[in-house]
Amino acid sequence: MSSLANKRILLGVSGSIAAYKSAELVRRLKDAGAVVQVVMTEAAQAFVTPFTLQTLSERPVHTALMDANAEATMGHIEQARWADLIVIAPASANFIARLAQGQASDLLSAIALASEAPLAVAPAMNRQMWASAATQANVATLMERGAKLLGPASGEQACGEVGAGRMLEADEIVAHCAEYFETGLLAGRHVLITAGPTQEDIDPVRYISNRSSGKMGFALAAAAVEAGARVTLVSGPVALVTPDRVARIDVRSAAEMLAAVQENLAEQEIVIAAAAVADYRPLQVATQKIKKQAGSAQLSLEQTADILSTITAESDARFVVGFAAETEQLEANARVKLEKKSLDMIAANGVGGERGGFERDENALLLLWQGGGVELPMAPKEKLARQLIERIAERFNAKNSTEDS
Ligand code: PMT
Repeated sequence: MSSLANKRILLGVSGSIAAYKSAELVRRLKDAGAVVQVVMTEAAQAFVTPFTLQTLSERPVHTALMDANAEATMGHIEQARWADLIVIAPASANFIARLAQGQASDLLSAIALASEAPLAVAPAMNRQMWASAATQANVATLMERGAKLLGPASGEQACGEVGAGRMLEADEIVAHCAEYFETGLLAGRHVLITAGPTQEDIDPVRYISNRSSGKMGFALAAAAVEAGARVTLVSGPVALVTPDRVARIDVRSAAEMLAAVQENLAEQEIVIAAAAVADYRPLQVATQKIKKQAGSAQLSLEQTADILSTITAESDARFVVGFAAETEQLEANARVKLEKKSLDMIAANGVGGERGGFERDENALLLLWQGGGVELPMAPKEKLARQLIERIAERFNAKNSTEDS
């Protein structure tokens, strides 16, 4: 997987001759693993057609704010929420002015205004327009608000002049995009993550399991790597690709998961248990397939060992994060698990029915720790995982600094 694997990049194309380069940029972003949603201003469409960018991005290009059909499929607010990063490339002088003024006069400016996603702006314009006091003031305003400026480069311009104002090349823009996600918050830290379900055998062909897909745990592994951690991922049976730079250990049962965690625990500084581990397993595993008989059948179960409690009983030096999957009384039940398993933090999610949690691509979490907590609202699991890793890094550093003092 590449540097932008699964990242949702909203690429805004505004009216500049450099708009022809956005075709190459879409390709390069996709090569790096990103999901690219193109939004074009009206002026941009004079330089490159939506059809070209739609073909390359493999997603419909959005162009109009007042398009009832487009709003019905993916409205501007939804697009604003969807994006992990908004990149305006090329950003014309006119569009930079609109951003600086906070206008919402077209689809792209409305999305930029409505989004919490970081904003990167790659200017492309004549050197005099770039050097003008108005453009420089507008750019300064955007940077004060946290936008990142990508370029511009200097050189020969489409108008025949030479100077600063050329849009960066596609590869350079992609490299800058990747930097957004490489936070370094857990640089060099050893992090062990569990993910997916466990399977508890009944006989040679049947087992007890649950609906976990592993998506939440795998997203956390990818986010921890982006934060600079060395990640070991202990996974139950799932159909997911291992994130780049992650050491994966496959297991089936709760007992195998416990053994794999214990074998790899010594150097771990942070443990995040997103796996849905079976609480019970059959008391006896039949050696032959159990035959169908008249009437009902009964299965005797015994408890599995609790992996989290085993870890925290061994040492309280690690930062241990549990999950709580609840169908009712989310906060109260999660607080009980936080205490009982001696955790540093618990991430509670509602499961079942229309809620996030199992299987789905989206989730919402209530994070709790001693004396505090915060809600992370419904979002794609990749995005949520990055938010959770940020919080874990914060609390991990707080715990370490208390212990050092
Ligand atoms: O995999 P997905 O489809 O993406 O779904 C994500 C998820 C819903 C599975 C995930 O967000 C989640 O909630 N994981 C924990 C599920 C769970 O088993 O919750 P629990 O409340 O039953 O367990 C509490 C904690 O104890 C969990 O961290 C669990 O890993 C741990 N545990 C449970 C049993 C056991 N024997 N040992 C444990 O360590």
